[in-house]
Amino acid sequence: MKILVATDKPFAAVAVEGIRKEVESAGMELVLLEKYGEKAKLLDAVKDVDGIIVRSDIIDAEVFDAAKNLKIVVRAGAGYDNIDLAAATAHNVCVMNTPGQNSNAVAELVFGMAVMMVRNFYNGTSGTELKGKKLGIHAFGQVGRNVARIAKGFGMEVYAFDPYCPSTVIAEAGVNPIENVDELYKTCQFVSLHIPATDETKKSINYNLLKQMPKGAVLINTARKEVIDEEELVKLMEERADFKYISDIAPSNAATFAEKLEGRYFFTPKKMGAQTAEANINAGIAAAKQSVGYLKDGIDKFRVNK
Ligand code: 3PG
Repeated sequence: MKILVATDKPFAAVAVEGIRKEVESAGMELVLLEKYGEKAKLLDAVKDVDGIIVRSDIIDAEVFDAAKNLKIVVRAGAGYDNIDLAAATAHNVCVMNTPGQNSNAVAELVFGMAVMMVRNFYNGTSGTELKGKKLGIHAFGQVGRNVARIAKGFGMEVYAFDPYCPSTVIAEAGVNPIENVDELYKTCQFVSLHIPATDETKKSINYNLLKQMPKGAVLINTARKEVIDEEELVKLMEERADFKYISDIAPSNAATFAEKLEGRYFFTPKKMGAQTAEANINAGIAAAKQSVGYLKDGIDKFRVNK
């Protein structure tokens, strides 16, 4: 049996070693395809493999058509919006993610970017502090919970809204539950997004929601660019000189930000949230274990398609 690791944005070498150990000790072969750039190389590499481990790599119907032996795809990470689940099911392929494995890394980047922004990119001028400020966590999943833990260390007042998470769970984490999304944005100067990109959430972070944020608003996006209505965000930021946006991946209209909103935004050049050795090891090895477990024993814990 063959397991392909197809990562256009590679894991740290130490994580690849760990994945190799898991796969080979199960008597399987590891095939590595990194920084492949063009889809043709991916289509070629998947032809004879039984399992694929990916990160944000796009696994669409064309890939499933090309992968005749494929039985499992594991997204080493949380968000699986890069995988066509309907096509997977149609091809009888199991899809899994590895929830929680890279969430601390993403949460740490929230604060890495937030401190840089409130200290004016360390340009020598006086900035502000996070202590005592209100932080709203939009969706209280694994990343949101890590963000809450770290925010308390900074001395922030932490609030969370999540219609899928009982408010008792939020309260037990020492966070103030908020029942209504508008209330979160009205209350908090800082809002950190942790919603997945789904039909329901795409473009849901829009003008009407964001305009309610208090003066000195900072929107932090380590989720997906698709959840933002990017044109409406620009419109709001043009109207409100106090509004700032920091995101782990540039929006589609990054050129407009550069032209009109200088000094009030920051975008990582490539999605960096999960780019730590620890996150790569945790998510990569979990993905390898899950692939082997499914191929050997049919264990489908963490399956995300029906
Ligand atoms: C995730 O969904 O797990 C994160 O966004 C990380 O994605 P990446 O593996 O592409 O860095």
